[in-house]
Amino acid sequence: MHKVIYDTDPGVDDAMALLFLHRHPEIDLIGITTVFGNASVETTTRNALFLKREWDIAAPVAKGASVTIDPERAEREWPAMVHGHNGLGNIDVPEAIDLPLDPRPAHRFIIDTVRANPGEIRLVAVGRMTNLALALKEDPEIATLVKDVVIMGGNFYVPGNVSPVAEANIHGDPEAADIVMTAPWKVVVIGLDVTSITTMSRSYLGEMSAKGDKAVKQLDALSQHYIDFYAHAVEDGMMVHDSCASVYVVAPELFTTITGAVRVVCGGIADGQTVVKADGRRFPPGDWDGLPSQVVATGIESEKVVDLIRGTLLRA
Ligand code: BDR
Ligand code: CA
Repeated sequence: MHKVIYDTDPGVDDAMALLFLHRHPEIDLIGITTVFGNASVETTTRNALFLKREWDIAAPVAKGASVTIDPERAEREWPAMVHGHNGLGNIDVPEAIDLPLDPRPAHRFIIDTVRANPGEIRLVAVGRMTNLALALKEDPEIATLVKDVVIMGGNFYVPGNVSPVAEANIHGDPEAADIVMTAPWKVVVIGLDVTSITTMSRSYLGEMSAKGDKAVKQLDALSQHYIDFYAHAVEDGMMVHDSCASVYVVAPELFTTITGAVRVVCGGIADGQTVVKADGRRFPPGDWDGLPSQVVATGIESEKVVDLIRGTLLRA
């Protein structure tokens, strides 16, 4: 069994990935930690509790960071045009959910759980990397105790989605992402290079919904606003970004990867750009010395990934 902590900002595609992690038979979802991003952390936490209640998920929810790790950074606006004003495509969600939160902040939950399960925890992080960076700052040793960190974020050989060069999860907290990428743990970076070509059409989702239970029908409903938003980039469908990272946990063979040190540009016109030291490119000494080599996905078998998501979501 893969023991997973899911660090997330639900979020439409986050919700799909959550259901995947909950339903996959080889995954033991042992915690959900929330972070700001697709909406405020109050909203993403309320959404995590809502989905936990609706889908009968046992894992505890711990609330995480509300702002970037560098307090000097100006706050960015919540992307309501992408995920709706409530973060879940404007479906009906109660204002508050009557379920307890884990008493610890997300980064503390991560530290304690990693220490209690040395060498076993797989962190799947699909929002801003702030909670992970806070955990590393408070207890750097956890880097040696985590099995691996699979993130959805970044873009290497394709354009960004919030600026010409940056992807939303990294652009939302570049300093945190740079801490995560350069720590001495294994990071697998599932970025736009592979997620932007992995899509589900509205009709595919509709067919799944017809066959599926209440949870799959809810996913279909909450995805409609997101699909409307994606009209500029996908033909009547949506990119399933966060699910790609979840799929990597159980099916890494569906990805092609390269390895190399990864850094994040912090500030200036390329704020949030991710760069990998690979391909024999020339890098000046200094900022790139002695960094751990990370794994960067450059290829994906999209059809198989989408099939695996479908098959897993339809397991009631
Ligand atoms: C990422 O940003 C968010 O909008 C999605 O949930 C995903 O994690 C894609 O750039
Ligand atoms: Ca997300």
